[in-house]
Amino acid sequence: MSFESRAKEWDNNSRIERSKVVADKINEIIGNEEYNSVMEYGCATGLISFNLCDKFKKITLMDSEKEMINIVKQKVEKYRNENIFPVQIDLMNELYKQEKFDLIYTSLTLHHILDTEKIIKIFYNLLNKNGMLCIIDLDKEDGSFHINQKDFRGHNGFEHRYMENIFESVGFSNIESDTFYNGEKIYKEKTIPYSLFYTAGIKK
Ligand SMILES: C[S@@+](CC[C@H](N)C(=O)[O-])C[C@H]1O[C@@H](n2cnc3c(N)ncnc32)[C@H](O)[C@@H]1O
Repeated sequence: MSFESRAKEWDNNSRIERSKVVADKINEIIGNEEYNSVMEYGCATGLISFNLCDKFKKITLMDSEKEMINIVKQKVEKYRNENIFPVQIDLMNELYKQEKFDLIYTSLTLHHILDTEKIIKIFYNLLNKNGMLCIIDLDKEDGSFHINQKDFRGHNGFEHRYMENIFESVGFSNIESDTFYNGEKIYKEKTIPYSLFYTAGIKK
């Protein structure tokens, strides 16, 4: 099933809870550093960034799916957020020239994008000097995570080293990775365990 058709029921308890943990981790990774202009890529309905909106002056929320971005727009209106800017875009196919960012984070989106190096280069070019990229995604797994999506054509998670090598070759410094979250999905009464890691780096 496409993300477009899943947008309306996206905000369930487990995603809301996981998004809080991911937002806390992003907070911890950036520490006391001040980042004014921030972008989340593959934001879905914005669950992660709505936990972080008090921390930054401006957050641009990007997703390729119109229905996801429509829900972000509805939330922005409902909660009267003045610093969240939703943008429907697929950076793999379209250029974004309007602005650059001090921090880009993306969660559980890169495993849907086949050419990891290409998207990381795009993020690099969208960062200001000393900007940070923080990728959060699935640790390498056996394919069980998408067992309910027969048409899934992405990555079955990533090895930390694979992500770090790409960060390095693209030009990032101060690269760090770690696994920080263990979760489970239930499918047809079967429990599917999974874990999430981050890789972060700085554009010097
Ligand atoms: C698994 S969801 C993750 C949502 C959220 N970041 C989270 O961690 O819960 C993946 C999101 O990435 C978006 N997405 C997938 N491919 C994309 C692409 N090429 N460009 C932008 N967004 C994409 C989907 O529409 C979806 O909202």
